[in-house]
Amino acid sequence: MHTKMVQVLWGCLLLCNLYISSAKTIYPGIKARATKRALDYGVQAGMEIIEKMVKERNISDLKGSESLEFLKIDYVNYNFTNIKITAFSFPNTSLAFVPGVGIRALTNHGTANISTDWDIKSPLFQDTGGADLFLSEVYFTGILILSRNSFGHPVLKLQDCYAQVSHADVSFSGEFSVLYNSFAEPMEKPILKNLNEMLCPIIIHEVEALNANLSMLKVLTKIDNYTLLDYSLISSPEITENYIELNLKGVFYPQENLADPPFPSVPFVLPERSDSMLYIGISKYFFKSASYAYFTAGAFSVTLTTKEISNHLIQNSQGLGNVLSRIAELYILSQPFMVRVMATEPPVINLLPGNFTLDIPASIMILTQSKNSTAETIVSMDFVASTSVGLVILGQRLICSLSLNRFRLSLPESNRSNIEVLRFENILSSILHFGVLPLANAKLQQGLPLPKPHKISLVNSDIEVLEDFLLISTDLKYETSLKQQPSFHGWEGLNLMSGRWRGKPAP
Ligand SMILES: *[C@@H]1O[C@H](CO)[C@@H](O)[C@H](O)[C@H]1NC(C)=O
Ligand SMILES: *[C@@H]1O[C@H](CO)[C@@H](O)[C@H](O)[C@H]1NC(C)=O
Ligand SMILES: *[C@@H]1O[C@H](CO)[C@@H](O)[C@H](O)[C@H]1NC(C)=O
Ligand SMILES: *[C@@H]1O[C@H](CO)[C@@H](O)[C@H](O)[C@H]1NC(C)=O
Ligand SMILES: *[C@@H]1O[C@H](CO)[C@@H](O)[C@H](O)[C@H]1NC(C)=O
Ligand SMILES: *[C@@H]1O[C@H](CO)[C@@H](O)[C@H](O)[C@H]1NC(C)=O
Ligand SMILES: *[C@@H]1O[C@H](CO)[C@@H](O)[C@H](O)[C@H]1NC(C)=O
Ligand SMILES: *[C@@H]1O[C@H](CO)[C@@H](O)[C@H](O)[C@H]1NC(C)=O
Ligand SMILES: *[C@@H]1O[C@H](CO)[C@@H](O)[C@H](O)[C@H]1NC(C)=O
Repeated sequence: MHTKMVQVLWGCLLLCNLYISSAKTIYPGIKARATKRALDYGVQAGMEIIEKMVKERNISDLKGSESLEFLKIDYVNYNFTNIKITAFSFPNTSLAFVPGVGIRALTNHGTANISTDWDIKSPLFQDTGGADLFLSEVYFTGILILSRNSFGHPVLKLQDCYAQVSHADVSFSGEFSVLYNSFAEPMEKPILKNLNEMLCPIIIHEVEALNANLSMLKVLTKIDNYTLLDYSLISSPEITENYIELNLKGVFYPQENLADPPFPSVPFVLPERSDSMLYIGISKYFFKSASYAYFTAGAFSVTLTTKEISNHLIQNSQGLGNVLSRIAELYILSQPFMVRVMATEPPVINLLPGNFTLDIPASIMILTQSKNSTAETIVSMDFVASTSVGLVILGQRLICSLSLNRFRLSLPESNRSNIEVLRFENILSSILHFGVLPLANAKLQQGLPLPKPHKISLVNSDIEVLEDFLLISTDLKYETSLKQQPSFHGWEGLNLMSGRWRGKPAP
């Protein structure tokens, strides 16, 4: 999609949102709830991420000036270059929900090994060399606040940051290292002072840098040529003692028409559970909007020529050749014909405990297919196909598949005894079973992207159908080498590893 187009869409979306918010309450189409188990896993995975991040980062050089009273030196100008964090350990780190506020991070007894080159100048001397710094008793606490911007992107803020390093051991290398090392101890105080002043600004800056990436998230995802899916946050997250819950819009739009569907969203409540790390609730409204959007975009229409039926679909059944000759026989056709099946209204979604069904009001037409003239309808009949929806999570996507339960021709009772109607019903049944549903299922194989961050995969997933919503229970797994799925946009874009370290030099 072109950037310009995206801007237009965003503009439109914003206007729509403004209009809607003044008009009626919108409830989320999708809810995502992360539990304490997710936080515990987050500590483990987060440490891995942060360690990788700090080791890869090029830390900007530090320049400064100190007066070293203990050496009776007025000032020493110094440069630290090539600063590298070589080792890193925060064995006692925890994350906890602060109800109504955010997520508190707490760590104590952390250590870090840092290596650097240095360069000092003072009125009396100048020198260069290397040094190793061992920081210990690192303490950090802060509350991560998650909110949203006007586009529905998540926004992170670090509040109440407090960071303190209690011990710093320096050991110098270089020509006069023995000399410097004898003064190393008194130098640790100014180092700690600078460090402790710098830490929170650096961390806050890192969190803000992450927001630049968060604001790049495609909350409006193109699903296919027919629809867009809106994953934007519609409100700030709800945080209780046991979970954080995100309310996502979860609405499908037909391409290039971002008006909300003409039916209201309905509130739903996720059950209180804590066994899984993440619960994703997908409402009936989400599926209704999908049904409506695909219908509006003209997706529920398929026209099969006899050739296509025999070429592509014959392998599904030996019966099809039979079907075609029966149709030809029934309607005394000698010329080639086409079968068109199209939904006449958006399919109706039913979500009952353990039972997800889709009723598709449709019509079937048999058309003549003469090359020159326009197609001519020989017969057309309305019917309702009742299908069961099977669900599975594959490759981080929710895949639906349809199977036909029954169908009913929309005819007066008096016509049901008609022998031709019965024969037509048989034919229709074969066409749906062997022609239309396999085609629909092939399209559905593409699946729906589930909202989840970059490099996180869903494991131990389970799907349940509850009253008016679908509940996905899943654990998360951080994968350093997860293969990129190019067609997957949306929340996948959340890249925790990018952004640059731009620590401010010491004053
Ligand atoms: C860090 O700096 C080195 C050379 O100074 C460069 O090769 C490398 O690409 C830089 N890494 C990042 C992440 O900027
Ligand atoms: C710090 O480095 C810059 C060049 O990067 C140099 O001009 C300056 O003299 C250095 N200062 C000290 C105190 O070493
Ligand atoms: C870990 O942190 C908690 C909370 O501050 C503290 O009570 C505990 O002593 C710490 N444990 C270790 C091994 O540092
Ligand atoms: C970090 O520095 C300390 C003190 O110099 C040292 O004992 C430890 O082995 C170092 N750790 C690593 C992983 O380099
Ligand atoms: C989607 O549309 C593009 C351009 O209109 C076309 O090239 C592409 O084949 C279409 N994709 C599908 C799956 O129909
Ligand atoms: C599922 O729901 C449909 C109505 O939506 C109903 O006709 C059908 O009997 C139900 N199936 C089961 C197994 O409950
Ligand atoms: C339409 O049919 C006529 C003969 O009936 C033929 O001359 C003409 O080429 C055909 N046109 C097309 C576009 O097939
Ligand atoms: C249904 O019955 C009516 C009256 O008996 C008849 O006119 C009509 O053709 C029948 N329709 C079909 C599809 O058989
Ligand atoms: C994240 O931000 C960095 C720099 O701000 C940028 O290079 C990177 O491409 C961004 N990543 C995403 C996924 O937007």
